[in-house]
Amino acid sequence: MKALKFLMFSAITLALVSLIIASDSNSENNVFEPISISGSQDVLSKAEMIPLKLDAFGAESVVFDPNGEGPYTGVADGRIIKWLQHNQTWVDFAVTSSQRENCTRASAPEMEHVCGRPLGLRFDHQTGDLYIADAYLGLQVVGPNGGLATPLVQHFEDQPLLFTNDLDIDDHDHVIYFTDSSTIYQRRQFVNATASGDKTGRLMKYDKSTKQVTILLQGLSFANGVALSKDRTFVLVSETSACRITRYWLKGPNVGTHDTFAQLPGFPDNVRMNSRGEFWVALHAKASPLARLITSNSWLGKALLRKFNFQQMHNLLVGGKPHATAIKLSEDGGILEVLEDVEGKKLRFISEVHEEENGKLWIGSVLMSSLGVYQLL
Ligand SMILES: *[C@@H]1O[C@H](CO)[C@@H](O)[C@H](O)[C@H]1NC(C)=O
Ligand SMILES: *[C@@H]1O[C@H](CO)[C@@H](O)[C@H](O)[C@H]1NC(C)=O
Ligand SMILES: *[C@@H]1O[C@H](CO)[C@@H](O)[C@H](O)[C@H]1NC(C)=O
Repeated sequence: MKALKFLMFSAITLALVSLIIASDSNSENNVFEPISISGSQDVLSKAEMIPLKLDAFGAESVVFDPNGEGPYTGVADGRIIKWLQHNQTWVDFAVTSSQRENCTRASAPEMEHVCGRPLGLRFDHQTGDLYIADAYLGLQVVGPNGGLATPLVQHFEDQPLLFTNDLDIDDHDHVIYFTDSSTIYQRRQFVNATASGDKTGRLMKYDKSTKQVTILLQGLSFANGVALSKDRTFVLVSETSACRITRYWLKGPNVGTHDTFAQLPGFPDNVRMNSRGEFWVALHAKASPLARLITSNSWLGKALLRKFNFQQMHNLLVGGKPHATAIKLSEDGGILEVLEDVEGKKLRFISEVHEEENGKLWIGSVLMSSLGVYQLL
């Protein structure tokens, strides 16, 4: 068995090395290229781009407050910034860490555990408080005037949360659903988590009145975006490295059980419901056949992690050409619409798609220094 694995590994490594070497030649349709999705519309390159300014980078989540102001977004240096529509400018709004004297670079992954890295954002529409999933500093909350946020959950059963990722709020039941992507890897090692087949992600629940935290689902493959359904009968969680959205039933005959809501052609990040109860899923990237091979064979992924650096591993997983893919799912998980920027002309590695009632899609990306705004037709 070991010898066979070694032989296979050697062969695959050789093939990969030649693929990486050949990747800047423009050969089409090899296993390394992003797949094409039939019926998708290549329209996102028409998005208007809003530069983040304030030396900010990596707007992950996009959220409006109960007065419709914003959006607000969390960026790589730990700040949450707010877009002032009237002034067409950004201002600082909140932070999740008080130790910010060295948080001066737009993107410095090695500083994230000190500076904070706000990912998922949601407003409580009754109180106007902003809830924050900070990758390193846990679940936090800040009042309507911003400033320094207050930690709510940073540990579970005496273990620190390593990678808090996203949340959604049930205003009626006063609970918050949130994800911890991994109990092994932190955000800056997201490529390791994906390639190693890590299945330690969790969907958790925080009860606002009792402050109790409970685990709803564990053993998830990179638990990421969280979204409640319109009737609050289920909550969705994206499992990034498994290319799927899992549904956990909160009410009804299947309460407490879970099933697969949607299988996707790539790696899902955040999921956001629109006013009609449909869900927009942002794909970090489509999964090439090679990426599927790596993520479904953990021994291969682990071996490759020993040979290739972060950037090379990211390239292997996302395909050579950056692109953007947004998928709209029905309340039942059927694919309704796929919007893309196939060539990555404007948008790449998108992390969230937020639909405003006026049909504007606000699109965040962890690897860009602007937000995209696309007007649905
Ligand atoms: C935004 O515009 C308003 C009204 O024009 C002005 O009073 C305010 O100072 C501006 N704020 C910023 C941050 O530019
Ligand atoms: C900032 O960096 C300086 C110099 O390396 C160090 O002495 C200081 O402790 C750092 N501050 C924080 C809050 O990490
Ligand atoms: C993560 O992957 C990189 C290579 O991409 C490797 O150098 C590093 O040791 C890995 N870290 C862990 C904790 O496995």
